[in-house]
Amino acid sequence: MRTAVVYYSMSGNTAIAAEKLAEALSADLIRIRPVRAYPDKGFRKFLRGGKSACMAETPELEPYSFNAEAYDLIVLGFPVWAANIAPPVRTFVQEQRGALKAKKIAAFACQSGSGGEKALRNLAACIGCDAFAASMILIDPKDRPKPENDRAVAAFVKRIRG
Ligand SMILES: Cc1cc2nc3c(=O)[nH]c(=O)nc-3n(C[C@H](O)[C@H](O)[C@H](O)COP(=O)(O)O)c2cc1C
Repeated sequence: MRTAVVYYSMSGNTAIAAEKLAEALSADLIRIRPVRAYPDKGFRKFLRGGKSACMAETPELEPYSFNAEAYDLIVLGFPVWAANIAPPVRTFVQEQRGALKAKKIAAFACQSGSGGEKALRNLAACIGCDAFAASMILIDPKDRPKPENDRAVAAFVKRIRG
């Protein structure tokens, strides 16, 4: 199954999970980045990013190479911001919406506490898909490595492989 893992990560937690998944699924790995990076330190990190997520902003992305037609399955990964999708992933979904709707989609969220379920529901609504082929929520897999995260990744991969 031709698979792409597409993700945004501010501070590396989603990135580490995306890399593991891409390796396990022999998938292409595509990292998206906003043209104007969000502040990643101090008070402004949560203020700016949280507001952007609450307002469902769609920040312009740096050019990326992705052709949905080349894949059978697309895995989307994002950090939870204010119980919502991190905005760069919203932009990606908006730009690719027509193509994604016809595809098998799996998704994962990284969070430090809660809000991942709601964010995944929002993502499904943005794409217009009824259900994900697989979904999972990880707790800061880089900053707080735990066996639960590894088990979740293994179960996610198993579910995708069927
Ligand atoms: C702007 C902002 C808002 C956040 N909101 C939430 C939240 O609502 N719930 C939560 O559990 N974690 C929240 N977090 C924490 C991140 O989702 C979490 O640390 C995640 O693993 C970071 O992924 P990354 O390292 O790939 O950026 C927030 C982080 C930022 C920067």
